[in-house]
Amino acid sequence: MPDDLLQPPHPGRHRAMLESYGFGLFPVPAYRDATVGEWRMARYGAGPVEGYVSGLVMEPCRHVLHQGRTAWMSTSLMEQESHAFHVHQARGVVVVAGLGMAMYAHAVSLKPEVERVVVVEQAPEVIAVMREAAGLADWAGREKVTILQADALGPELPAQVKAATGGRHADYLYADIWPVCGASEAPAQTAGMVRALGPEAAGWWGQELSFGMWCQDRERAPDEGSLRAYAAETGVPIPVTAGYAAFCRDVIAARLPRRRWPGWSQLWRMAWPARRS
Ligand SMILES: C[S@@+](CC[C@H](N)C(=O)[O-])C[C@H]1O[C@@H](n2cnc3c(N)ncnc32)[C@H](O)[C@@H]1O
Repeated sequence: MPDDLLQPPHPGRHRAMLESYGFGLFPVPAYRDATVGEWRMARYGAGPVEGYVSGLVMEPCRHVLHQGRTAWMSTSLMEQESHAFHVHQARGVVVVAGLGMAMYAHAVSLKPEVERVVVVEQAPEVIAVMREAAGLADWAGREKVTILQADALGPELPAQVKAATGGRHADYLYADIWPVCGASEAPAQTAGMVRALGPEAAGWWGQELSFGMWCQDRERAPDEGSLRAYAAETGVPIPVTAGYAAFCRDVIAARLPRRRWPGWSQLWRMAWPARRS
């Protein structure tokens, strides 16, 4: 694999995150266009995108995964920043709910401390389109990766994952099966997967926003103590570090500002909720 594909995009942002939070961005596959059924991966030219925690940046290009007319996911900075902590936490046996663009599976398969990656994806077309678009057969970490076509919320999940891991339990579970960031059902559905699989640690996409809304409802500061209380209440073993608490604080300040009257940026987000292109 060429060296530049093993480097994270946005090197300046990567360094700033490492310094502030103790984790940074990650390498992204060399995507190509592909179509299977109604699922399609397409490349778009330069344009401004908003990060998850940082402001607007210009990106030279990005890839977007569509199902029909719906954009499910992209390689934008927002996606990269919102996956970063979960990539950082991955070690040992990693179970991933939702293949999507295989961005997470690719990044964790490159980590030396990750031994096995089991991806649970319900749509066979997504698996087929990603084999082609993300060049799975060429990944440096491809031998670690097993893709299961299964329902991550179904009753068969524990047996299916057990067969794929050879009986080993998961060290990290990452759930990303929702089209909207901070989806209201995400904490309870992730907790259900935690009960089914018993991982050492777990998280879901957009959990910083779910945590932020929980803090705002209770008028709590988004600090390490609140994160521990939130993890205990949701039943998801979220790993808590000072750096991650600082990241949550900054995401919440950037995306859930408290104002009596919404400002223009809030009105924009209300009209175009955070997802995913
Ligand atoms: C946004 S994508 C995941 C993106 C992924 N984190 C990445 O890094 O590219 C969500 C995926 O979850 C899948 N999905 C939705 N519901 C699911 C379920 N109940 N079980 C398994 N996969 C599901 C969708 O088909 C889609 O491929």
